[in-house]
Amino acid sequence: MSAPELQIKELVAHKWDLASETFDTHAGHGIQSEKERDAWKRIFREVFPERGLKILDVGCGTGELSILFSEMGHEVTGIDISRKMLKVAKSKAEAFRVDITFEEVDAENPHYDASSFDIVFNRHLLWTLPHPDTAIKNWKKVLRKGGRVVIIDGVWDNGSLETKIRRAGSDLLTLLVERKDPRKGHCGYSEKLKASLPHAGGAPLEKVEEYLSSTGFEDIRTFDLKEVIGTQKESMPLSERVLSSYQYYLVCGRK
Ligand SMILES: C[S@@+](CC[C@H](N)C(=O)[O-])C[C@H]1O[C@@H](n2cnc3c(N)ncnc32)[C@H](O)[C@@H]1O
Repeated sequence: MSAPELQIKELVAHKWDLASETFDTHAGHGIQSEKERDAWKRIFREVFPERGLKILDVGCGTGELSILFSEMGHEVTGIDISRKMLKVAKSKAEAFRVDITFEEVDAENPHYDASSFDIVFNRHLLWTLPHPDTAIKNWKKVLRKGGRVVIIDGVWDNGSLETKIRRAGSDLLTLLVERKDPRKGHCGYSEKLKASLPHAGGAPLEKVEEYLSSTGFEDIRTFDLKEVIGTQKESMPLSERVLSSYQYYLVCGRK
């Protein structure tokens, strides 16, 4: 990794270290209700109905979905570059009494043996990678033949005036109605850092489909996350609901 590359990764890790303590308190990050937990389980059973799969959760953060997969009977490895996110993940896994391997590993270059996993999963990660295309190529290497990459992401800032107005309105509500700092718990990337990320406002579905097909993934499919989003909205304060109407998707492809 070149020096500037290393610097980008260190900055990203630092930002998430700072967000680690409050990350799970946000609806859309931490699972807020049994209804939401059940909705996630239903969608994942639809995407991969088999049990006992070996899952690599890339950029696992506080391990919220790693733990869910483990509860569903899968064998999970979670990797992240933020030590503090991993620390939270490890103590949660202990509290939930699930056995998950958490490791500090760069998502763009997971150094596992070829064909080690049935599923490479990630949520809310692609947007914060400097080289999402390289990452997807390397994920394919660690997947067994027939294994699937499963990606959940979205576009929350397409640079439009509408997005800017929504964000300003949301911040104002957080400040005035909830009397909280609107930026607390958000990673707050600088403009310079954002400039080194090709999808800093979120990775568009069409682009991710393009990455998957150019990497040779087949049977590329998207799944509806309406039920999950509905349950998340029930737990969101108005300020977050104002923001939450962005493109959001689950897409998967088979090796
Ligand atoms: C928005 S959080 C999502 C966490 C988790 N996937 C979830 O959905 O709850 C993004 C996570 O990606 C991690 N991350 C960012 N760049 C990474 C990289 N190059 N390698 C591994 N993890 C990375 C961050 O540390 C952070 O924990």
